[in-house]
Amino acid sequence: MKIGFFQFEPKFLDVEENINQIISELEKSQTFDLIVLPELANSGYLFKKKEELEQVAEEIPGGTFVSHLESICKSKNAYIVAGVAEKKGSIFFNSSVLVGPEGYVSTYRKLHLFDREKLFFEPGNKPLEVYDIGKAKVGLMICFDWIFPETVRVLALKGAEIICHSANLVLPYSQTAMLARSVENAVFTITANRIGTEKNDELILSFTGQSQITSPKMKTLAKAEKDTIEIKIVEIDPELAKNKWINERNNLFEDRRVDYYAILT
Ligand code: ACM
Repeated sequence: MKIGFFQFEPKFLDVEENINQIISELEKSQTFDLIVLPELANSGYLFKKKEELEQVAEEIPGGTFVSHLESICKSKNAYIVAGVAEKKGSIFFNSSVLVGPEGYVSTYRKLHLFDREKLFFEPGNKPLEVYDIGKAKVGLMICFDWIFPETVRVLALKGAEIICHSANLVLPYSQTAMLARSVENAVFTITANRIGTEKNDELILSFTGQSQITSPKMKTLAKAEKDTIEIKIVEIDPELAKNKWINERNNLFEDRRVDYYAILT
């Protein structure tokens, strides 16, 4: 199975330009079965007012951005996971969608909002789910979800073999943390981060790039630079993520001592 990420610089409030960038890069890319795009790939990140979000957020499915993703998936016979500013009636979610050759599949709404996102978005209100896309089972998470190891654990316990992690990272820790998430759950992870800097009158944020793909054996299979637009695709065997045994006597899931974890819930 060929999996990858597209690391780029979404332009703030310019959905059309972002769609065009995605179409032109994915059209000329080598073939892939699954590709992950950054968080808020339709809109950019640094909102100052809800009115800005209102301009770019879309109802899912049926909006412009997701409809274009559906066309790309049909022509490429592949799956895309992408971050989308979602509008649901009068409220907004920081979401990601799974889209495939059959069209729109599902939406994940970010559970753990980071910093000023809390001013604009509602926290996610849908369960962490796993989707069978034929060659593998995939789970979705977004950026700051990485700092809560429960996110990947739940997805892995539900059978995810590949974690699709759309991101707009600003802290320097996630790339290392996701290696731990991979080995402790025996899953592949794809972190698709963005690059560039966004500013408004009050704030400036620089995004850290270095998108990566990690393996159940804690290997970095691909890694992007900090500041370049890049597509990277690697070939994996998703079956490797089905084996939770790390030696003859230790199983990552069966050895858990859940009786002692009650405080977690
Ligand atoms: C983040 O969650 N976008 C840092």
